[in-house]
Amino acid sequence: MKKLLSVKRLSTSFYTRSKKIRAVQNVSFDLKEGEALGIVGESGCGKSAMAKSINQLLPKKSATIESGNIIYKGENLLEKNKKEMRAIRGKEISMIFQDPMTSLNPTMKIGKQVGEAYHLHYPQKSKLEVYRHVIKLFMQVRIPQPEERYHQYPHELSGGMRQRVMVAIAISCNPFILLADEPTTALDVTIQAQILKLLKQIQKEENMSILLITHDFSIVANFCDRVVVMYAGKVIEKASVYQLFESPKHPYTKELINAIPRLDSEEQNKLNTIDGTPPDLALPPLGCSFEPRCSSKIICCKTKCPSLVETNPDHFVKCHLFSKENTHG
Ligand SMILES: Nc1ncnc2c1ncn2[C@@H]1O[C@H](COP(=O)(O)OP(=O)(O)OP(=O)(O)O)[C@@H](O)[C@H]1O
Ligand SMILES: [Mg+2]
Repeated sequence: MKKLLSVKRLSTSFYTRSKKIRAVQNVSFDLKEGEALGIVGESGCGKSAMAKSINQLLPKKSATIESGNIIYKGENLLEKNKKEMRAIRGKEISMIFQDPMTSLNPTMKIGKQVGEAYHLHYPQKSKLEVYRHVIKLFMQVRIPQPEERYHQYPHELSGGMRQRVMVAIAISCNPFILLADEPTTALDVTIQAQILKLLKQIQKEENMSILLITHDFSIVANFCDRVVVMYAGKVIEKASVYQLFESPKHPYTKELINAIPRLDSEEQNKLNTIDGTPPDLALPPLGCSFEPRCSSKIICCKTKCPSLVETNPDHFVKCHLFSKENTHG
């Protein structure tokens, strides 16, 4: 599969009055044509900051992309001006956010909102053409009675239906890349499964690439082809889904996988969590960020930051247990 997007050594920080928060630190990965790539990690590890860096939707006042490149179709998105970025955002690279209620305009009918997203990039289309396109999109995202629904307001819809409207907006221009930032977190499990199934169908139909951000490893297992695991702003492991579940390397990844509730377990109702908390991103530790919580740590972990090494083809891990200097042979 051909690379469509390459994030290279990306670092993004937030500046508050007293602190510099290193939300994304030296992050690199590729997104290939038609694949689903999972970005997984605990709350606050920089997943959204990374996705917003791609689409340049970071808050202007507080956020800065410190370094790195984001190569899309051979060009660096970070060198594009506002107008060029506006032409790409929503049309070629679009995004679905976590909470549909804050992303939809409560005072505007949903049909009009979807139509506006499309019309912005296709201003030459007539009102009738836009209307027809919206109805087609509603059918594609399985919104029943699309003509009647067109005239409803967001508060008249269920959470699942609202999220379908968000999907319709995101795919309105048939994008090459969909950045889906926790698209189902606000929904109950059954609706969550329906929305993910829908996204998968659309991905296949349109050969779209999806960057799926989640803190839920079981979603990654069912949805993604490859995975990037983030911890405290950094990539600590990346591999195919198969490799990662078959042979996880990083102690953090292993714990995340162990934390998935298992249906065959006697303790299926017990939610496993990882002890401790991630470090303060304003004061990144000298050594490995996971060291304070790691049960497999060795002496150098406290003082030296491991580098990302390839342990098997296309399987990378950032852990001293796999560093060349700590392994023999
Ligand atoms: N606007 C902001 N101003 C200051 N700090 C911010 C801002 N947005 C995010 N941060 C900080 O940047 C870090 C990364 O946040 P981010 O939202 O990217 O995490 P996340 O992995 O998406 O978490 P979650 O799973 O909770 O959505 C966190 O420490 C967060 O507190
Ligand atoms: Mg987030």
